[in-house]
Amino acid sequence: MKKLLSASLVLLATLFAGTAVAAENSSYPLGQRSIFSDRATAERLAPVGSVCVEGEECGAQVAAAEAGSGEPRSGEQVYNSGCAACHASGAAGAPKLGDSAAWAPRIDKGIDTLVKHAYEGFNAMPAKGMCADCSEEEIHAAVEYIVGQSK
Ligand code: HEC
Repeated sequence: MKKLLSASLVLLATLFAGTAVAAENSSYPLGQRSIFSDRATAERLAPVGSVCVEGEECGAQVAAAEAGSGEPRSGEQVYNSGCAACHASGAAGAPKLGDSAAWAPRIDKGIDTLVKHAYEGFNAMPAKGMCADCSEEEIHAAVEYIVGQSK
């Protein structure tokens, strides 16, 4: 009798665990939520990796994912994720965004010079504003954004 009791306890516990997993998986449509469903079984049996021969479609997907969305980030996005660290507070003597007095003499140098300085570095201004994966186009957009906000 004791054995039967503990056996049914184990069974109950298993059922509860199953329900908990099912609740986690509730983003799946009904019928695919159970850990015993074909979906879950297929996931458990799926290989941990796959080989993709160059030129195959799966390879293109990976390449696209590596390149991000493929779209260059906007000037505002680049500014917020990198440049703002210095140009919002004026850290290290950086001219602040919106400080037109500080920016006027710089803007007079022309946008090309400013982009070059932002891309290659200029005194305490680090190359690319420390945004290592920024393209020249993105740095250009960020400079345009800063200048546009600081006139
Ligand atoms: C580590 C701090 C820091 C970061 C991050 C930074 N800057 Fe700067 N930036 C400076 C400083 C300091 C100066 C002033 C340099 C000087 O005039 O001596 C400056 C100057 C500039 C100038 C004016 C250059 C000139 O010729 O007068 C531009 C344009 C500029 N930054 C753009 C950017 C952009 C775009 C980013 C982000 C991609 C960025 N900065 C990120 C510190 C920073």
